[in-house]
Amino acid sequence: MNILEKQKRIRKLLDDNNAILLAHYYQPGEIQDIADILGDSLALSMEAAETTADVIVFAGVRFMAESASILSPKKTVLLPRLDAGCPLADTITVEELKQAKADHPGARVVAYVNSSAEIKAHSDICCTSANAVRIVESTDADTVLMVPDGNLARYTTQFTKKKVIPWKGFCYVHNNLEPEEVRKAQAAHPGAPVAVHPECRPEVIAMADFVGSTGGILKFARETDAQAVIIGTERGIMHQLKKESPGKTFIPASDHLICRDMKRMTIDDILSALLEMKHVVRVSEEIGEPARRTLGRMLKASK
Ligand code: 13P
Ligand code: SF4
Repeated sequence: MNILEKQKRIRKLLDDNNAILLAHYYQPGEIQDIADILGDSLALSMEAAETTADVIVFAGVRFMAESASILSPKKTVLLPRLDAGCPLADTITVEELKQAKADHPGARVVAYVNSSAEIKAHSDICCTSANAVRIVESTDADTVLMVPDGNLARYTTQFTKKKVIPWKGFCYVHNNLEPEEVRKAQAAHPGAPVAVHPECRPEVIAMADFVGSTGGILKFARETDAQAVIIGTERGIMHQLKKESPGKTFIPASDHLICRDMKRMTIDDILSALLEMKHVVRVSEEIGEPARRTLGRMLKASK
């Protein structure tokens, strides 16, 4: 079967099984093209909470499939590649979080969705890169512990009077983007605005004309008058950028903006997942119930 035939087969299997395919913008293009919902982490969790499908196939990484299972515990959630994780989510353990809470009594814990189900279960509210400031502002304490992404926490600090305590985690993909690489891209494309993800380090964020989630970067690219934009986030977003704004030029700020985990998934994995109904991701209710409260508070505050 060629790619087109595989895509058709997948679409038919999805329909036959009352299943939907949710895909993140960092996924390979041929998967993005056949998704029912293509979105950033916030849009995907909203859809996972509201879909009436029986089966959710997640083209993303483990924490996304876990969130879908937490929000829709009665549905079958499939993660076609069990080895698609998120190194950022792995930068904090529950024991470390418990210690941090003990060190900062009275602080509210805001967990970035890029975290394990267990971390969510031990946190007060979730956030994504699309709503972090709003979520921090919505908490009823003056001090907020933000886990696990330190760069997102430092970025958020600029927009709130609350004391934000950052965890030491980072996303290697975004954190590895160097100011020098951005400078080189700017020199090669004078006048092109720089759009970056808030998981980038502060020195890079300081150079940016726009900072936002993947969904935010796509919107900025659609709306800007600029004909060329320098992109500081994972390369998978290029696929949608080019589709949405075919007349514009998008320049990756670095050649290294590739998430190994997001790129593990292939069209064959999606096909096998639907044929064999694998791999089921199910979060136990012991963790799922408190984690649902944490995610639910975010969804409520984002409406
Ligand atoms: P969003 O901007 O879509 O929330 O995603 C960031 C990310 O790194 C997902 O893994
Ligand atoms: Fe995790 Fe970074 Fe990959 Fe997103 S891009 S899944 S935060 S490692």
